[in-house]
Amino acid sequence: MSIAYVNGAFVPLEEARISPLDRGFLFGDGIYEVIPYYNRKPVGFALHMQRMINGLKALEIKCEKSIDEWRQLLDSLIDQNEGSNFGVYLHVSRGADTKRFHAYPENVEPTIFAFTFGIKDPEPVDRSAVHAYKVSSTEDLRWKRCNIKSTSLLGNVMHFQQGHASGNNEILLYNQKNELTEGSSCNVFIVKDGTVITPVEDNQILPGITRRIIIDSIKADGSIPVEERTITMDEVRNADEIWITSSSKEIAPVTRLDDQPVGNGEVGPVWEKAFRIYTDRKFDY
Ligand code: PDD
Repeated sequence: MSIAYVNGAFVPLEEARISPLDRGFLFGDGIYEVIPYYNRKPVGFALHMQRMINGLKALEIKCEKSIDEWRQLLDSLIDQNEGSNFGVYLHVSRGADTKRFHAYPENVEPTIFAFTFGIKDPEPVDRSAVHAYKVSSTEDLRWKRCNIKSTSLLGNVMHFQQGHASGNNEILLYNQKNELTEGSSCNVFIVKDGTVITPVEDNQILPGITRRIIIDSIKADGSIPVEERTITMDEVRNADEIWITSSSKEIAPVTRLDDQPVGNGEVGPVWEKAFRIYTDRKFDY
């Protein structure tokens, strides 16, 4: 049975309860993280927690735990749960007030909720055996603060559903200038003539931890050029390779975009090289 953490107590997940007046429930007023663990070891723990701390600060939610304190709390949760590969979902909302009123209330304790869920083994570092993704694309209709990992995910959910309903695994998003932003639940990379390219970190994308680890590990390795810059959708459609990245997907190759083949329609060699570098180094972050 899965054990969850809610406001200081460890309880079976099915028995976890929060108030319907919780602002996370009423307004999506909260921040969340998903931290991947392989063989019970986290990838990018401090980076995930620093992003959470930044998000809480942006929302002025007063939850003063340090990265070490978060580590202790989540280690206790993990000790009570089984499994080798799992994600930890961690959620901090502003908490439950006595009324529904938009302004931030004072003297309300944040609600902290965490649970673990199983994730698959990593994909093989083998371009002929890896699972390839099929994606569609659409204009990004979310808000202008996508850098905040907010629990208000309706914009992302509606976009994901749009891709899902048309038989795709994900949907790539572009702004009004026809520039790539990200996927509805992932970051996006393209490869052109051997160079790996991904959009810059700004308010149009989530600063993904997997994205960061990929860029830093590829740079540290030094064998593949990497650029962070604006990418037009024309470049995406003419790319040799497209990858989507997240804590649960790691680096997933995309071989079809809007029912057209990406490059030659096969998983590319740069994916395999980059995924090997990432796999070798991911626990260093
Ligand atoms: N999604 N962009 C968006 C919109 C995301 O929701 C995610 C992650 C990412 C990748 O971030 P990271 O590499 O830090 O996981 C980018 C998570 C996993 C989710 O909502 O389940």
